[in-house]
Amino acid sequence: MNIYTFQNESGFVQTAAGIIASLVNTNPRAKLGLATGSTPVGLYAKLIEMNKEGLVSFKGVTTYNLDEYVGLPDNHSESYRTFMNEKLFKHIDINLAQTFIPNGNAADLEEECRRYDRMLEENGPVDLQLLGIGHNGHIGFNEPGETLHSGTHVTTLQEKTRTANARFFSSIEEVPTHAITMGVASIMKARQIMLLIRGEDKAEIARRALTGPITTECPASLLQCHPNVVVLLDQGAGRYFK
Ligand code: PGA
Repeated sequence: MNIYTFQNESGFVQTAAGIIASLVNTNPRAKLGLATGSTPVGLYAKLIEMNKEGLVSFKGVTTYNLDEYVGLPDNHSESYRTFMNEKLFKHIDINLAQTFIPNGNAADLEEECRRYDRMLEENGPVDLQLLGIGHNGHIGFNEPGETLHSGTHVTTLQEKTRTANARFFSSIEEVPTHAITMGVASIMKARQIMLLIRGEDKAEIARRALTGPITTECPASLLQCHPNVVVLLDQGAGRYFK
């Protein structure tokens, strides 16, 4: 793993955006695995800026998102489809038809998981998978436990995850209890992984994930087995990596 800690926000964001932009400039038909959450918001804003300045074009790029809540309509303000449209897609020159996110409203969720896996299998591997990390070590919505799933599946969100995400909803009751998420094997198939970790509240889980034992109790620790991972930490999250 290549681990970098940044003293300021602009270095963190510019490095992350630079990695994506140089990949896309080298391969205009690149396939990107994308993530939601507060962590990549600055990165997406930087990519929008670079796109507007003509420094990178997403016309030929295809994207696959990690996860989506179950039961929120696509146009709900907190659905991950809305998040991606608002924070990135509608501000850049990407073809929206080439942006894929699991459908958390499919009538048959199991079939939707199989469909998403078939699509990843037929079109993959992605060139770069962007990841954040949960306070409990989750990647995507692969929550810690005795076992993990390899492929896309419906998962029950842990209370820690629902509590963390309640800040985006008017009350915790409104946070969905389930989500569809890509599995860990699908994530690990990416040619390269870029893990972003921000904030002092993530310092401890960053230490566990990057230097602790590889265990399903910390799903992000599995990334230690991937041959091509770059980790960008801000000053707060990088306390143990100075
Ligand atoms: P956050 O979420 O970026 O909002 O902290 C990350 C995650 O839960 O994976």
